[in-house]
Amino acid sequence: MLFSTVASSLLALVSLADATPLVKRASLTRVNNFGNNPSGARMYIYVPDRLQARPPVLTAIHYCTGTANALYTGTPYARLADQHGFIVVYPESPNSGGCWDVSSRAAYTRDSGSNSHAISLMTKWALQQYNGDPERVFLAGTSSGAMMTNIMAAVYPDLYKAAAAYAGVPAGCFYTGTVAGWNNTCANGQSITTQEHWAKTALDMYPGYTGSRPRMLIYHGSADTIIYPRNFNETLKQWAGVFGYTYGQPEQTLANTPAARYTRYIYGPNLHGIYGTGVTHDLPVNGANDMEWFGITGNPPPTTTSTLPSTTPAPSSTSTSTSTTSTSTRITTTSSVVPTPTPTPTPNPGNPGCTPVGKWGQCGGMYYTGCTVCEAGSTCRFQNDWYSQCL
Ligand SMILES: *[C@@H]1O[C@H](CO)[C@@H](O)[C@H](O)[C@H]1NC(C)=O
Ligand SMILES: *[C@@H]1O[C@H](CO)[C@@H](O)[C@H](O)[C@H]1NC(C)=O
Repeated sequence: MLFSTVASSLLALVSLADATPLVKRASLTRVNNFGNNPSGARMYIYVPDRLQARPPVLTAIHYCTGTANALYTGTPYARLADQHGFIVVYPESPNSGGCWDVSSRAAYTRDSGSNSHAISLMTKWALQQYNGDPERVFLAGTSSGAMMTNIMAAVYPDLYKAAAAYAGVPAGCFYTGTVAGWNNTCANGQSITTQEHWAKTALDMYPGYTGSRPRMLIYHGSADTIIYPRNFNETLKQWAGVFGYTYGQPEQTLANTPAARYTRYIYGPNLHGIYGTGVTHDLPVNGANDMEWFGITGNPPPTTTSTLPSTTPAPSSTSTSTSTTSTSTRITTTSSVVPTPTPTPTPNPGNPGCTPVGKWGQCGGMYYTGCTVCEAGSTCRFQNDWYSQCL
């Protein structure tokens, strides 16, 4: 019985391989010499085969016990990098337990030799090595990685343009005075203070800085019993204070956005919160939503100037993942200042006027508003709630 199941899966694999010849695909790669690295953090990078001329760089930071490979395989970012031609840097923690140092004084200090410094050097290495676009440098992280994301945004606001933090705490909240310590008070949602105090905590991590800061997207689940949900509120206070919003007065509250059970709190263009009712610490990464937040996809996040995002973006802004031939190496950059010629849309009945999605591209998933039809020779296959792919 078991054997026959295995045998039939093997058969299925073989026939799939027959139908779609294996495509050589880029892989996760270790980078050894990215700069001065006394804390011993490890750097991995994913550079897709098809890269934009000036690629965006996303640094995706893992949770405690996580690894670069766990995030590479367990989040949608690498597949999205294939689709949109950006680079993903996956830092890996050197600390026992695999948590990041988000608790020492050095962690909150620029160029201090701690993990936060190492991560900034990894991002800079990728930007330099691949002619990355300094205007499209992004952060994402989960749990300990989200704590680090908030810290990176506070310590290196000059380097990053937008960030998505899943189930983290405010920058500075996890302080213990030791490297990679665990602060129960903060984890349990008992570090509660004012917007002004949290903002000052973040601002003090780069004293005197007056330049631009990354736009912050803060996710949390109401049923999180590892990093208690009160940290959602405290983190929003922190960034609301930094950006001059009022924590208690989001400009808009959108129910069931970006998905059922989630509520989106819009403070302004620089700060959104997304709160999942009944969602635990295993908060799923919403790749499509993050791509919008980063501006990698053409669909802008909801803003305060319109009640809902347009569901019919211009054809050129939905063409990021599409090509009319499966061997094409063209990638249309969404942020390019030079308008790229719009491919002639092939009419299709499901979504009239949309350009069929190229092989490997996204064709469905929650909050996805692009074309749901694949180009000839590939079929839209469900991968998970957030992601269907043309295969
Ligand atoms: C934990 O962090 C809070 C601030 O969030 C701080 O007041 C407290 O002293 C820290 N606990 C330890 C053990 O350092
Ligand atoms: C935190 O924010 C959520 C979402 O706005 C809200 O439902 C909850 O009541 C807040 N918690 C506290 C303690 O204010």
